[in-house]
Amino acid sequence: MKKTLPFTAQQITEIKAQHPTPFHIYDEKGLREHAQKFKQAFSIFPGFKEYFAVKATPNPFIMKILDEEGFGADCSSLAELLLSEKIGVTGEDIMFTSNDTEQKEYIKANELGAIINLDDIAHIDYLEQTLKTQGGLPELLCFRYNPGPLREGNAIIGDPKEAKYGFTREQLFEGYKICQEKGIKRFGLHTMIISNELNPDFFVETATMLFELSVELNEKLSIKLEFVNLGGGIGVPYLPDQNPVDYDYVAQQVMLQYQKLIVANDLDPLKIYMECGRVIAGPYGYLITDVIHMKHTYKDYVGTNATMANLMRPALYGAYHHISVMGKEVQAEDHCYDVTGSLCENNDKFAIDRLLPEISAGDTLAIHDAGAHGHSMGFNYNGKLRSAELLLREDNSVLEIRRSETLEDYFVTLDFEQLKTFK
Ligand SMILES: Cc1ncc(COP(=O)(O)O)c(C=O)c1O
Repeated sequence: MKKTLPFTAQQITEIKAQHPTPFHIYDEKGLREHAQKFKQAFSIFPGFKEYFAVKATPNPFIMKILDEEGFGADCSSLAELLLSEKIGVTGEDIMFTSNDTEQKEYIKANELGAIINLDDIAHIDYLEQTLKTQGGLPELLCFRYNPGPLREGNAIIGDPKEAKYGFTREQLFEGYKICQEKGIKRFGLHTMIISNELNPDFFVETATMLFELSVELNEKLSIKLEFVNLGGGIGVPYLPDQNPVDYDYVAQQVMLQYQKLIVANDLDPLKIYMECGRVIAGPYGYLITDVIHMKHTYKDYVGTNATMANLMRPALYGAYHHISVMGKEVQAEDHCYDVTGSLCENNDKFAIDRLLPEISAGDTLAIHDAGAHGHSMGFNYNGKLRSAELLLREDNSVLEIRRSETLEDYFVTLDFEQLKTFK
């Protein structure tokens, strides 16, 4: 089975003349249209907001497009907070969901007026100490809930009770009580227990769990939560025969639970937030790489000029990323290859035993669904340089939204002058 592409082989040839491979290219039209569809489906909840998980694609141009489409930013680090600030996303348009957080990160999040989502009960005191000279605790706080044995998670994220994230159920009630006593009046509740999930019912279950907790918090502590954040985790149909999550179905099923639990208990309005990353950017980014060698030993290898430093998901998780051979999209996929990079790691492979059209050196490959956790997970092992990021605009023009690294960038943290006198 095939997957479609937003560009032609001819377009890629023209782009390559200006921008050497490998590069990531993002499809602005696809990104925007999908963002609108996502927002539309959940607009049945007044106050719904998606906070794009910046870690998926921390490029300010992509973030700006998503800001224009009405998304906020879910940040997990100082750098991500600074990126949000750079594009003018501040205040409660930022959700700061971090863990093992440093003081300087909380200080910046607070300075920006972000919604701070605490990962641990001990961080209530830590945050209070951190912000002692800056006006104390913020007026709004959110806690990340980890249901432990009460939920199963999924194959990707694993068993919640093995996860380092979040408050236990007991700690959650204790945490809200402590904060109430400290005078905090505005509260949110967050969870993130699944990742790359295509079963829509998981998201309905998560919403139900948070609604039930909202009711219990109201009964036990008289807290009326402002929002629940269902986290991210909506999967990408990486395989060509997989179907995307039906957002309308999720929204409608969540609405049934909302009526049953939130409206019926007079807790309406309760805003619904999400912080998806992968599904928002993943399908709209492609890694473009040239085949530089064909190697025939015990297997047939396609050697590319990209490496797992450009896209590490296949090597790290054995993840499937569809591959199109540019200009050979309609040819029969009747040759079996391992598609490799040049790292001195045998798992530096984009595909293993993949049926593809017959490939020759000089062909160009488009590796699909590389828009999230692609460039962002890049690294420099073997001195490999991070590639450029390009944006295919709606008028088919191309904008370089991050240049590729140079060897000067790679060496910039070394002091070769000092080396001259070093013995
Ligand atoms: C706290 C948190 N929120 C949101 C996300 C985004 O998840 P996804 O990209 O799977 O939607 C992640 C992913 O790691 C996360 O850790």
